[in-house]
Amino acid sequence: MSARNARPIGVFDSGVGGLTVVRALMERLPLESIVYFGDTARVPYGVKSVATIEHFTAQITDFLLGQDVKMLIIACNTMAAVAARVVAERAVGIPVIDVIEAGSQAAVAQSPGGRIGVIGTPTTINSNAYARRIHALDARVRVHSQACPLFVPLVEEGWLDHPVTRMTAHEYLRPVLAEEVDSLVLGCTHYPLLKPLLRDVVGPGVRLIDSAVTTAELAARCLQEAGLAHTGTLPASYRYVVTDVPLRFQTIGERFLGRSLGLVERVDW
Ligand code: DGL
Repeated sequence: MSARNARPIGVFDSGVGGLTVVRALMERLPLESIVYFGDTARVPYGVKSVATIEHFTAQITDFLLGQDVKMLIIACNTMAAVAARVVAERAVGIPVIDVIEAGSQAAVAQSPGGRIGVIGTPTTINSNAYARRIHALDARVRVHSQACPLFVPLVEEGWLDHPVTRMTAHEYLRPVLAEEVDSLVLGCTHYPLLKPLLRDVVGPGVRLIDSAVTTAELAARCLQEAGLAHTGTLPASYRYVVTDVPLRFQTIGERFLGRSLGLVERVDW
């Protein structure tokens, strides 16, 4: 096993939400080590300007490249929507994948009727990044998008099966469901936690596309193709680096990750 392949994968997000992607990666690629970066001091990104998000994304990318990662995964839909170019320009020589690419591929493959719904933060939806990516894959598909700004705070509050969240979901999804979509892309790190509730709201005819799971699939394919998969016997190691450790970080983080977090490091920027 070459030392080159034993290097960790760098995964980053605006905060704790990207741990849904880490969770999917742990299940799909249990041998791969991961360095996770969450910008918990400056979250949320979903309501910030493009220039600010680009600036923050460049800082995080440089930090992870300094950790000798073999691949970068943009786990944050908002960063993937408006700052993927910033990452690609810096990460020369290593593969970069993101949740929008993975979610778009899966949605096109699973929408035989050619109608896809996308939900995300206001910045993600206003960027039109999902629609552009989906149309690049199949120009005939119709995309119906909806910003759901209240979902992030509701998930962080732990209201995963709460009447307020249910009512909010019905309200947000009404226009998308009226278009009789085949699938609904959960275009935000936080939304996979709402899957059981959203499944009730959308009904059995609409497929939910979980961008965390699809990203782990894409990462597995990409590592194989690049000859970078780790096949050794050493157990994977996980590092969590954040810019702030707020009071409830441990509880929220473990909810997203589905297991205990272990040591969390804080960088001082
Ligand atoms: N991680 C963000 C996303 O996936 C959601 C949280 C935020 O607004 O920063 O879009």
